[in-house]
Amino acid sequence: MATTTTSAADIRRSNEARCRRILERSQLLDVDDLDWGRVGAVELDPGVIDTLVYMRDVEGFTDSYVVGLAAHKTTLSDPIVHAFLEVWQAEEAAHSQAIAEYLEVYAAARGLDIPPAQASPVPSVPRYERALARVGGPVGTLVAAAHMAWGAANELLTMNGYRLLADQCDDPVLAELLRRIAAQEARHYSFYLLQAEWRLASSRLARTVLPRFLDGSWTPVGVGDGYKTAEEFQRVLAVLNARPESERVIDRMDRRFAALPGFDRLRIYRQAATPAAA
Ligand SMILES: [Fe+2]
Ligand SMILES: [Fe+2]
Repeated sequence: MATTTTSAADIRRSNEARCRRILERSQLLDVDDLDWGRVGAVELDPGVIDTLVYMRDVEGFTDSYVVGLAAHKTTLSDPIVHAFLEVWQAEEAAHSQAIAEYLEVYAAARGLDIPPAQASPVPSVPRYERALARVGGPVGTLVAAAHMAWGAANELLTMNGYRLLADQCDDPVLAELLRRIAAQEARHYSFYLLQAEWRLASSRLARTVLPRFLDGSWTPVGVGDGYKTAEEFQRVLAVLNARPESERVIDRMDRRFAALPGFDRLRIYRQAATPAAA
């Protein structure tokens, strides 16, 4: 995270250089070398299977999310973001496919039925977003900053969720698969965070509006109309909360996100983990 004495232009230059390096390092998930013959040898907790089903579906929703992002000219006209969105879409699709493959092999080995994949909702952009999409200038900058901050929030959650699930699952093949996915989520998180940081550092409007916006409207990845319900997310959370380190992880995520300019009071992960407080 850049220091407060660094100018906004310096932060942008430095962060964009780091984003280009992240793009250069991107590579589709490779799971061919995993020991697929051993899948099913270890019985999984039903909650772990439910969480895999949730993430298989949510990873598959990415195409719908991209439609919303791509509708905004300020977001899409940034060539680095434009290039990233293509890479991101392909990598998330590969995550969904890898989890689906694991579930199929596991189900066949243990004679189980696994729920079929939930279809991705028909991509649509709400009317207010279509109106915003036509606006450039400071509002366009604000919308692009919101996209990047929202993306960082979700990628930080998925990265930590996969790590917790890898520790929880007892199956070394699945743990390796999940850690490889988590490593890609870490790259996605870094990209979105670096983009959000320079945009917030450059815009007092973004620093003022976005914390309130996220505090009131952020929902964990996958939750929303036509997507997953809040109850389904809470079931996933209950599985991840079984880890002794989960409380520490929630606080660490909040600390990291609160380090963004203007975000120091935000505690979105604690709110999501404590529905009564949300
Ligand atoms: Fe993913
Ligand atoms: Fe991701």
